[in-house]
Amino acid sequence: MAVVSGPVTPGQVSFLLGIIPVFIAWIYSECLEYKKSSSPSKVHSDSNLVEMENGTIKEEDQAVLLEGGLTKSASTKLSTPSIKTNLIRFVTMDDSFLLENRQILRAMSEFGGLLFYFYICDRTNLFPDSTKSYNRDLFLFLYILLIITSAMTSLKKHNDKSALSGKSILYLNRHQTEEWKGWMQVLFLMYHYFAASEIYNAIRVFIAAYVWMTGFGNFSYYYIRKDFSVARFAQMMWRLNFFVAFCCIVLNNDYTLYYICPMHTLFTLMVYGALGIGHNYNEIRSVMVLKILMCFLVVILVWEIPGVFDLVWSPFTYLLGYSDPAKPNLPRLHEWHFRSGLDRYIWIIGMIYAYFHPNVEKLMEKLEECDTKRRRSIKTSVVIVSSIVGYLWYEFIYKLDKVTYNKLHPYTSWIPITVYICLRNSCQQIRNFSLTLFAWLGKVTLETYISQFHIWLRSNMPNGQPKWLLCLIPNYPLLNFMLTTAIYILVSYRLFELTNTLKSAFIPTRDNKKLFYNFVAGAAICGCLYCISFMLLQIPH
Ligand SMILES: *[C@@H]1O[C@H](CO)[C@@H](O)[C@H](O)[C@H]1NC(C)=O
Repeated sequence: MAVVSGPVTPGQVSFLLGIIPVFIAWIYSECLEYKKSSSPSKVHSDSNLVEMENGTIKEEDQAVLLEGGLTKSASTKLSTPSIKTNLIRFVTMDDSFLLENRQILRAMSEFGGLLFYFYICDRTNLFPDSTKSYNRDLFLFLYILLIITSAMTSLKKHNDKSALSGKSILYLNRHQTEEWKGWMQVLFLMYHYFAASEIYNAIRVFIAAYVWMTGFGNFSYYYIRKDFSVARFAQMMWRLNFFVAFCCIVLNNDYTLYYICPMHTLFTLMVYGALGIGHNYNEIRSVMVLKILMCFLVVILVWEIPGVFDLVWSPFTYLLGYSDPAKPNLPRLHEWHFRSGLDRYIWIIGMIYAYFHPNVEKLMEKLEECDTKRRRSIKTSVVIVSSIVGYLWYEFIYKLDKVTYNKLHPYTSWIPITVYICLRNSCQQIRNFSLTLFAWLGKVTLETYISQFHIWLRSNMPNGQPKWLLCLIPNYPLLNFMLTTAIYILVSYRLFELTNTLKSAFIPTRDNKKLFYNFVAGAAICGCLYCISFMLLQIPH
């Protein structure tokens, strides 16, 4: 398979123009740090000097602070120099600036380096590719092996207390939802790696469960914490879209290729909107019922009435449009319609479950206080009823062919999700335990989802679906699987950490003015880089 990387885009040139100075600055800051830390040990008498120097710097800082204090009298902004000053200090390679920001420069450089690795793996012929092959025996063997490993090494009992009553009920606790994500994510990724098309319908349910969790988690958060601040909103958007935005730029892909990201962003925004509008009245039950009904109404309006979807979304085609090179004749919004439509209701179901979570928790507390006989019979009947419902769903819906199943999916995906929740929480012993290895994997689902396209599988061309495998050890498919998987998981985890590091560096939590300045400065820098790159590319070669 020949690699089609296409002509270089302005976005890619901008990325290079941006990352190279950062990289140089980082190397230089490491040199400075090395010099600073090694100089006192070489000559003993120097150490005092360095200390004195540090002392003077501090005094100078204080002088600057005082001066500022006298002239401006503002108090909070003084400790942080303005963006303009920072930029000038960066461009002039100011020593103390580079030393102060060494960690951030390092994180940015590492992030850039990883994206460079993405490009090398997916868009050059440096490493070959290989084809996928499915063997049910091997597939199940690997999955069960992971479960056994995980159970033997990472089974953990949790003793967290309920926020409401101080009792340990732990129904649908954080460990559990994260572990649940992990279970599904591993199968989802293996489904892609081995092209296990026979579990297509199960994968649809898993994606629905993620969207359910978006509704559930975000509803609980906003309902309880009532934090609708701009900073929190910006952090959330950063978490969901920072990495994917860079992937789109560097690999010249459409956003909707990674459909999980726009989908979660949309449904997160919908939950935010639903709870944020008139949030002072969220405690009133009838208002909440009305809000949830409105959510259903919006979804019915946009997705069920023909023509409305295109009307609403066509202005966003530049952002959400996608053309698969293998199916160039489909409309640009087809993929977005299909993906967002499949899980259009389940986030609302997640919100409803979150709303009733405290009530259910109280019921469960009462149940735990009942006498043994009654408790047993209630629990047993819950388990039996869920099992029967689960079986019926499996027999009559899950087993349908892909196309028919997809038609029913939006209206039925809540059934397996509810059955899982009932069974997983049926008794104290089960719900107290979780597999931390799966929970760990569940934390980095976004990064493993995006990275798989390029450094585990291969798409080989802009907007291509990942139909090939990255091959680092030709002719040894299993060894290759082991090596690429190890690198891929490690890189995904680093990207998760880097996203968080950079998030806290660029999104101040309390200072909205500074956040706004950062945003404007970021946009201006990107704009300039883009213009320069665009002009550079116009120069005939
Ligand atoms: C809100 O949903 C997004 C997308 O699934 C998720 O990443 C985030 O953690 C959720 N927020 C909370 C507070 O659960």
